Amino acid sequence: MNRVSKRILIPSAVLMFTLGSLACVAQKTAKPAMPWMDRSLSPDRRADLVLGQMSFDEKMQLVHGTGWGVLRAGDPVPAASNRGAGYIPGIQRLGIPDINLADSAVGVRMAGPESRYATLLPSGLGLAATWDTDAANLYGQVIGRELRAQGFNMSIGGGVDVMRDPRNGRNFEYAGEDPILAGHIVGELAKGVQSQHVMGDIKHYALNDQETGRSVVDVHMDKRTMRETDLLAFEIAIKMSEPAAVMCSYNLVNGDHACENDYLLNQVLKKDFGFKGFVLSDWEGTHSSAKAANAGLDMEMPGEDYFGAGLKKAIADGQVPMARLDDMVHRILRSMFATGVVDDPPVRSVVDPFKGRDDARHIAEESLVLLKNAGAQLPLKSATVHSIAVIGGHADVGVLSGGGSAQVDAPGGNAINPKEATAQWGKPVYFPSSPMMAIQRLAPGAKVAYAGAEDVAAATKLAASSEVAIVFATQYMTESIDPATLSLPDNQDALIKAVAAANPHTIVVLETGGPVSMPWIDSVSGVLAAWYPGIGGGEAIGDVLFGVVNPSGKLPATFARTEADLPLPQIPGMLAANAPVQDMKTDPHHQFEMTYPEGIALGYRWFELKQRKPLFAFGHGLSYTHYKYSALKVDAGNRVVHFQLTNTGAVPGTEIAQVYVTLPGASGEPYQRLVGWERVPLMPGQSKSVDIALNPTYLSIFDVPTAGWKLLPGEYKVSVGAASDAIALTGSLDVH
Ligand code: NOJ
Repeated sequence: MNRVSKRILIPSAVLMFTLGSLACVAQKTAKPAMPWMDRSLSPDRRADLVLGQMSFDEKMQLVHGTGWGVLRAGDPVPAASNRGAGYIPGIQRLGIPDINLADSAVGVRMAGPESRYATLLPSGLGLAATWDTDAANLYGQVIGRELRAQGFNMSIGGGVDVMRDPRNGRNFEYAGEDPILAGHIVGELAKGVQSQHVMGDIKHYALNDQETGRSVVDVHMDKRTMRETDLLAFEIAIKMSEPAAVMCSYNLVNGDHACENDYLLNQVLKKDFGFKGFVLSDWEGTHSSAKAANAGLDMEMPGEDYFGAGLKKAIADGQVPMARLDDMVHRILRSMFATGVVDDPPVRSVVDPFKGRDDARHIAEESLVLLKNAGAQLPLKSATVHSIAVIGGHADVGVLSGGGSAQVDAPGGNAINPKEATAQWGKPVYFPSSPMMAIQRLAPGAKVAYAGAEDVAAATKLAASSEVAIVFATQYMTESIDPATLSLPDNQDALIKAVAAANPHTIVVLETGGPVSMPWIDSVSGVLAAWYPGIGGGEAIGDVLFGVVNPSGKLPATFARTEADLPLPQIPGMLAANAPVQDMKTDPHHQFEMTYPEGIALGYRWFELKQRKPLFAFGHGLSYTHYKYSALKVDAGNRVVHFQLTNTGAVPGTEIAQVYVTLPGASGEPYQRLVGWERVPLMPGQSKSVDIALNPTYLSIFDVPTAGWKLLPGEYKVSVGAASDAIALTGSLDVH
C-alpha cells in the first residue's frame, strides 16, 4: 500500500520528463541506423544516404549479376534467387533488397518450372495495333502484378526497337514501325509495370533492328536519322515512364558496341533524355570494363566478366574514377527507392489467372485488325450459318505464342503436346484458348469441323463441303532468328490457295509475328490479323468473326506485297542457307556493317517516297461500320487539329482517327509522318468533334549542330484520315 502511494506521489512533470528522455533514447537508437528509410526524402537523397554507408565491395556487388543461373542448364543458381533471368544480391545490413528480375515482354517468362502461373498477353505488336494507351497501361499492370505475385521486383521487357525490317524475328515483342506510336505504347506499358511497385525496363537500346548477326552487326547511321526514328521511340517511352532501367543492346552502333557507346549512353540517354535510372547490359552484351563503365554502362548482366575483378582493377588503376562507381550505384539505388521496391517489396501470392485472362482478352479484342472483308462476308451470322470448316494453325486446341526470352509457359503445358510442360527454346508453344471452341459456342447450331494444315487434300475436301472455311495461318517467330522471306512457312500459301479454290467464302486468320506476304489475297474473302493474341485469343477471334466485337485495330506496320518492295530485299548478314551469321559470337572478324538505305524514311514513309503500293498500308484496319470525316480546322496558333467524325453505319464502333503531317520542303523529308491519333467510340449515327493537339517535337527535325529539335518555318501539310493511305481531309499549318 505504502509503496503504491509513493509511486503515486511522483510528480507528473518528473514522470513526463523521464518518459520523454527514455523515448528520445529509444528514438535515437532506432532511427539513425537507416535514415534512408524515411519515405519523405527524395529517391536521390535516399540513395546518397545509403551510398555513404557502403563499403567498396558492397558497391561492386550491385553493379553486376551472379551468372546465367536458370537460363543455362547446369549453371549454378544462387539459393536466394527467385529463378528468373537475373539476380543481384542486396545489402541486407542496409535494408537494400535483392534484385530479382524476370523476362516479361508479353507476360512473365519461365513460370512453368516453378509451378507458377503467368498470363500470356497479346504480342507487343498486337498491343500497338490497339493504338490504345489505356490498354498499354493495363498490359503493364498485368505484368507488374504477376511479377510481384511471383516474388520478382524487376521486369525486363518494354521492347521499343522500331520495325525497320518486317522480317526481324523479335518484331512481335516491339511496337511497330512508327517511333511516335511505338514510344507512346511502350512508355505507357512501362508506367503500368511501375505502378505495381516493380522496376521497369526499356530495351534494346539501340538499333537492334534485326536478329541476324545481332552481336556482330555494326549499324552505321547519322545522328539526325537516329534521333528522328529509333531514338525518338526510346526518347518518348523513357520520358513518359521514367523507367528504372534501360537495357543496352548486343549490336554495335557507328563502331562501338551499344553497351560501351558514349554517344548512345552518356550523351543521348543520360544527358539529352535526362534518364536518371541505370543502364544494364543485354546478357553478355558487355565487352569491356573501363570503356563500358566510362561510356555509361551501370550494370553488367548476367555475370561479372568485366564488372567484377576487371572493373575493380580499372578503378584501382585510375582508369575509372571512383565517382563513376558511385554514380552507377546511386542510379541503381535511386531506381529502387523511386519505384517503391524498398518500401513495398513484393509479397509472394498466387497469380489470379481469371483476372489476367480477362485483361488479356480485352486487349486482344482491341488488337485484331480486319484487313479485308469482301462483300461484307464478316461478321458471320450465327443464326444462318450451317457449317464451318476450321482449318490449320492447331485452331482446334489453341493459339500460337512467340518464342525466345519472350516465351511464356502455357498453363497445362503446350496445347499441342501437354507433356511439354515448360517451353523449349525454338519450339512453338500453343496456348489453350481454342478458336474452334469459341466459334462453336458462337454458332451452336452449326456443324463446326477441323482439318489440320498437314493434309491439304483433306482440308480442301472439308472446305468444299462447308458453307464457310476459316484458315488459321501461323508464323512462329523467335529471338535470334529472322526468317529470310515474308512468306508464311510450311507451305501454308498453297494450303490457302487450295482451300480458297474449293470454297468462295474463305477467311484467313493470321497468327504471325508481324507482316507476311499474301499471294492468295485476291482469292479469299476475308483476312483478320490476330498477331499472337494471348490467352484470351481464341475467344477474341471468335467474337470478332461473329461481330460480338466490332474490330477496331489498325496496322502499326506496313504489309509489303513482296520482299522486292522493301528497302532491303535480303537481310544483310544472312548466309546462303538463310542462317544468320553466328549470333552470339563476338569475334570481330565476323563483324559487318549495316546501313539502312531508307534512313529516316522507314516503314510507310518509304512506300510513299518510292511510290510503291503496299499490300496493306500502315494505319489500315476495317470495321463493321463506316465513319465519315468532315469539317477539318487547323488552329495554327494553338497547334490543334479539329474535325468531325460520324458513325454512318448500323453498329457501334471505335475509329482510330489519325493525323499525319508533311514538313516543309526545307526539311528534306517529302513524306508524311504520324503526329497524333485518337480512339473515338461512336454509336450508330453519332457524331463527335475531335481535337488533336500537335506536339511541336513531333513536327520538328533534329538539328545536329545544336543537338536539339527544330521547328522549321513554313507550310506543313496536315492530313487526317482512317489510315496512312486513306486520308479524308487535308489542310495546312503555317509556322512562322
Ligand atoms: C537476351 C535478350 O536479348 C534479352 O531481351 C533478354 O532480356 C535477356 N537475353 C535475358 O533473358
